[in-house]
Amino acid sequence: MQQKMKSIKNSFAFISICACLFVLASATHDTTCGQSQHPDVINYQDFTLQFEDQFNKIEINTQYWNVSDNLIRTNQQFQIYTKENVKIKDDNLVLSAQYKPTTLEQKKYDYSGGYLDTTGSIGFKFQYGYAEARIKLPKLQFQDSSFPAFWALPHPAYNSRWPYSVEVDIMEYCNVCSGSDTNDYIYGANIYGNRQQYGDCRIWYRSTMKQITFTDYHLYGWFWTEKEMTFYIDGVAYYSYIFNDPSNNKSIGCPVVIPDKEFILIFDFAVIEKYAKPEHYKEPKEMYVDYVKVYSLNKK
Ligand SMILES: *[C@@H]1O[C@H](CO)[C@@H](O)[C@H](O)[C@H]1NC(C)=O
Ligand SMILES: *[C@@H]1O[C@H](CO)[C@@H](O)[C@H](O)[C@H]1NC(C)=O
Repeated sequence: MQQKMKSIKNSFAFISICACLFVLASATHDTTCGQSQHPDVINYQDFTLQFEDQFNKIEINTQYWNVSDNLIRTNQQFQIYTKENVKIKDDNLVLSAQYKPTTLEQKKYDYSGGYLDTTGSIGFKFQYGYAEARIKLPKLQFQDSSFPAFWALPHPAYNSRWPYSVEVDIMEYCNVCSGSDTNDYIYGANIYGNRQQYGDCRIWYRSTMKQITFTDYHLYGWFWTEKEMTFYIDGVAYYSYIFNDPSNNKSIGCPVVIPDKEFILIFDFAVIEKYAKPEHYKEPKEMYVDYVKVYSLNKK
């Protein structure tokens, strides 16, 4: 999330040489390797609601949410997270990014963005289940460096910092992340460490990019079980990460580790890197979150 990926296109090459045995099952969506056990379409009757926020109160519920203020995350040189970029508006959680030169501890940041996670006073964490949020994204300009996201981290963190730690990106919206691509797109990603142990699979295994009408509301979902994680848009699966033992020969598919710790949820709106221009932010750019829900899978 903090440092962007270099080789999204490589994932296609890797998938095509993946030589796994396929068994007959009903799911048809793309996977890292092998057959998904997760449904192509989410059936809410299979789940029980554990947590939700409709963002329809006047203020953000700080029992659940921790809104960051003057937060600088790893290797962000352009932008600082401030609480003025996290609001409730029209029964939505609204995160923004703007051109706003700020100096903190003798360093200058040109842009400010928003960040909140579920480490509020009571907080919310979960292990396995289905998480989804209904989100409307802003229109991006050519080489816009806006970078809104809905993602998750283990809590407490049990590894060192990115890129060695685990991270799940349910929705990252970008048009400069791959370096070469300037279309707007989103993807879901399972990023895990340790890089030395597992090679560069965290980069290889980035889902196919999806291009939809981002300025409409869409549901971005993540279904997580012990052996698999699947990403959904509007309840329809587009990519699964399936456990593949790290001790396997890499030529039959890069190892995929499925995290097994408790995770918190995060929304943020960052501004990344070199292409950002003040004129991209004549108005603050905004991400609207209508609601977020987390379900547990019913026992069969
Ligand atoms: C809330 O977020 C801040 C970062 O802005 C972090 O330093 C703090 O530890 C978080 N609080 C909890 C209870 O995790
Ligand atoms: C891994 O598989 C490839 C292709 O089947 C093979 O050439 C190679 O020797 C194998 N490596 C090991 C360590 O088994």
